[in-house]
Amino acid sequence: MKVGIVGTGFVGATAGYAMVLRGSCTELVFVDKNEARARAEAADIAHASPVSHAVRVSSGGYEALADARLVVLAAGVNQQPGETRLQLLGRNKKIFEDVVPSVLKFAPDAVLLVATNPVDVMTDLTVQIAGNAQRVIGSGTVLDSARFRALVAERADVDPQNVHAYVLGEHGDSEVLAWSSASIAGITVPDFFARRGTPWNDDVKAEIDHGVRRAAAEIISGKQATYYGVGAALARIAEAVVRDRRAVLTVSGPTKYGVSLSLPRIVGGDGVLETLEPLLSGEEEQALEHSANVLREAVAQL
Ligand code: LAC
Repeated sequence: MKVGIVGTGFVGATAGYAMVLRGSCTELVFVDKNEARARAEAADIAHASPVSHAVRVSSGGYEALADARLVVLAAGVNQQPGETRLQLLGRNKKIFEDVVPSVLKFAPDAVLLVATNPVDVMTDLTVQIAGNAQRVIGSGTVLDSARFRALVAERADVDPQNVHAYVLGEHGDSEVLAWSSASIAGITVPDFFARRGTPWNDDVKAEIDHGVRRAAAEIISGKQATYYGVGAALARIAEAVVRDRRAVLTVSGPTKYGVSLSLPRIVGGDGVLETLEPLLSGEEEQALEHSANVLREAVAQL
């Protein structure tokens, strides 16, 4: 099962590295306009394979993507300190208008996994170019949901794997933390803390909300980019497709709101198999509508 990664910057290379460590696929091909960079990243990551999983790692031109089950689209520029994801649209739109047709020329049947920000709008652009919504997935808020789960788990002193909590909407400033459905071992988060006798109030919720919403900005202010979290999220999504896991992940894709945004979706071999309409509080529903409005304004610039 071959996976291609177009764009071997920090995010693309880290995603490929995570796939080797997880054994997400059996073959990995890097493509980048900077051929020397792609070759070097492939050579370096190939040295992780003997001590983790047998994955054949190489680099090449777009023709090397032939027969890929999935292609990660990670080409483009990333946020600089103080920049929002939406401000990247003009530059990254131009890049995708070249990259997406080049990928489809050699891998017309591949699932396309969009990583480049603003990921929801780039997902809509890719759907427009590819013309097949089911096989276009945006990484969306899979990373944000992981951040949400991690912060709740830290306060509850439990394994994040046992926290179910989703971030919905834009992968960006208008994202929505679905507190009403968040749970630990099937117990709502407030009940879990109440049973523990641990303080749980709006201040704690606000602290977690801030921690999720500002995570990228704070990391970027310290190291100019984020890539480990999103790289692992991309590997998780890629594996759900390549191994037909039917995993529930908050990936981005077209919705009833007329734009791509993140909702809980079942992801498997053919891409998005089903979108699960979440049960939301009135406040969360309003926030999701606002997030959709923010994205509609951005998509209007396409
Ligand atoms: C972040 C980037 C991937 O949230 O948008 O870290």
